[in-house]
Amino acid sequence: MESYQFLSPRKIVVKTGGLASAGTLAKELGSKALVCVGGSSSRKNGSLDRLMQSLRQAGVGTVLYEGIRSDPDVETVEKGRALCGESGCDMVVGMGGGSVLDTAKSIGLLAANGGKLTDYETARPGKPMLPMLAVPTTAGTGSEVTKMAVVTDPARKKKMLISCEEILPDIALLDAELTYSMPARVAAATGMDALTHAMEAYLSDNAGPVTDLFARKAVGMIAANLHAAVYNPKNAEAKKNMMAAQMYAGLAFGNTMTCLVHSMSRPLGVYYGIPHGEANAVLLAAVMEFNLPSCVSRMADMAEAMGLSGEGEWGLAEALTAHLHKMHALLPLRHSLAEMHVRREDLRPMAESAFAAGTTKVNPRKPTVEDIVSLYEKLL
Ligand SMILES: [Fe+2]
Repeated sequence: MESYQFLSPRKIVVKTGGLASAGTLAKELGSKALVCVGGSSSRKNGSLDRLMQSLRQAGVGTVLYEGIRSDPDVETVEKGRALCGESGCDMVVGMGGGSVLDTAKSIGLLAANGGKLTDYETARPGKPMLPMLAVPTTAGTGSEVTKMAVVTDPARKKKMLISCEEILPDIALLDAELTYSMPARVAAATGMDALTHAMEAYLSDNAGPVTDLFARKAVGMIAANLHAAVYNPKNAEAKKNMMAAQMYAGLAFGNTMTCLVHSMSRPLGVYYGIPHGEANAVLLAAVMEFNLPSCVSRMADMAEAMGLSGEGEWGLAEALTAHLHKMHALLPLRHSLAEMHVRREDLRPMAESAFAAGTTKVNPRKPTVEDIVSLYEKLL
């Protein structure tokens, strides 16, 4: 790579218990915030109250947009945009998992630029989105540090990927305490999503020296902490490490894009509503086995980052794929496409959709549609 650039939010705050600083940080960005949150869990665990209190104490006005579900669609974004416009908000605060953060980014984009979200699937917006504070509650999608948002367009049966610098959040606030109450299944799925981000960033044709630093570090930290964080939510050290690692993974893939695992997981979400992280988790080891011959040395690097041993680069790369199978098997997730009730007749249209995705073009091994069908079949 002869030249490269690296994008990140202008400020990343990592602080266990840092939710109390949300108001002070938001004050840097505006005076009235559209606060975007998900279902009832942030009310039940008290984090929504703490966020609103912090904003009020700092003198930031608030308008609440609640009930954003996972896999948000264009309608969810449109409703939020209308509320944002009617109430005169000049910034957005998103607190939640990737779906909430992606929705908040999309609302901020439309509030600043007008038009429809589908316009920005291909065209670049003229202005940055409204200033945004992003507070993740899973570990995670890395959405708080990326220039990407995934929103479903039901009319086209498609998960749209909006990717542009104009939706990079201004400030990311990472408070690992917010992940303590995450159910084990969500911790497992989002953690495997983060591992997939790190690995795909490292193997992408777009990988560069800075993203490599973050990706390798994230791979090692996730392998060392994921299972402890899933099975012992009171393990503050593991939770803190997972929160940081998923952010590193976000900084890496946010600059490189992801690869074939993500191309193949998106259709599983659209056709069957399989959660994004769980879909990546079921695909990861098999797709890495497929990739192996094209990138042995890079796979060996990642095996070393995980502390694995093997004879030579091939031995290390094979140790890596074996370890991925083991990591997945020990998580409270579904372990085959059959368990997810995926039907054989959908494999080809899903493979065609995965083949057409931009993320497939930067995968280290270039698959055919037949290759992708075979990979899905192997996991049935
Ligand atoms: Fe992902």
